[in-house]
Amino acid sequence: MKKKAMEKLSIKKYQDEQKFWKDIAAQTVKELSAAAARRKEELEEVGLEVGEGMPGLAFLALSGGKTPAPLYSLLAGEKRINWAKTEVFLVDERMVPRDNDKSNSRMIRESLYAGSNEINLAYFHDFMTELPVDETIDQYREEFSLVPEEKLDVVILGVGPDGHFASIFPGWLAKSSKFYGEGGTAMLSETKTFDVAERITLTAEIIKKSSKIFIVLKGKEKLSVLEEISSGSKSMEEFPVKFLLDGSGKENVQIFYCE
Ligand code: 6PG
Repeated sequence: MKKKAMEKLSIKKYQDEQKFWKDIAAQTVKELSAAAARRKEELEEVGLEVGEGMPGLAFLALSGGKTPAPLYSLLAGEKRINWAKTEVFLVDERMVPRDNDKSNSRMIRESLYAGSNEINLAYFHDFMTELPVDETIDQYREEFSLVPEEKLDVVILGVGPDGHFASIFPGWLAKSSKFYGEGGTAMLSETKTFDVAERITLTAEIIKKSSKIFIVLKGKEKLSVLEEISSGSKSMEEFPVKFLLDGSGKENVQIFYCE
């Protein structure tokens, strides 16, 4: 990446782990609340009221992996979010039953959804992995069509040591045509390196379109990711997360790092 572009990246570094999680949670609250208030106002302007059975007013997408569980546990007790009017989407999933210990859905149920009664009012759009994979993707795409203009308000992402985010792995551009259904919001993916080869993921383009993308890097082993993001020379094909940090849209990305 060129120096000029790098300078515009927003990177916050922390030593205090509690403050790190609290700040990310506070940013998430702020963005979701603002999005919900804006949509409520828009509805009221056309004489509509926010009623039961209507889609939510705020749209949040969460990654799996190990890093964000403490954040989700913190968000679980967050009373400033109107959970009943929040739609929660899973960013990506491994093709295993939802009760498998490698399931991202399970991790989120055991962290976020282990919280207050309020949190359980937020509808969780995960992947129905018990279906054949094509149907799983179709079902998720249908649920995702609830998201206004397919633009999420907040996406929480972890990044792997090879620069993958969601289930977008190195070599993804060359593989796109094999895996993508044209124009779809979710797609099939695979990894030969990490847990569970067969994956489903939101596409990189849909993730990039989001109003806010919070990249969460925790632990010394993620320092090399931060270094590659800030001053490395790998391409977005080799280090996928660079796609989110390249060209327009990177101003919506906030990177949080804690040792
Ligand atoms: C997954 C993900 C993935 C994850 C990164 C980082 O299913 O694994 O959603 O993109 O965020 O691999 O994972 P860790 O947080 O475990 O390092």
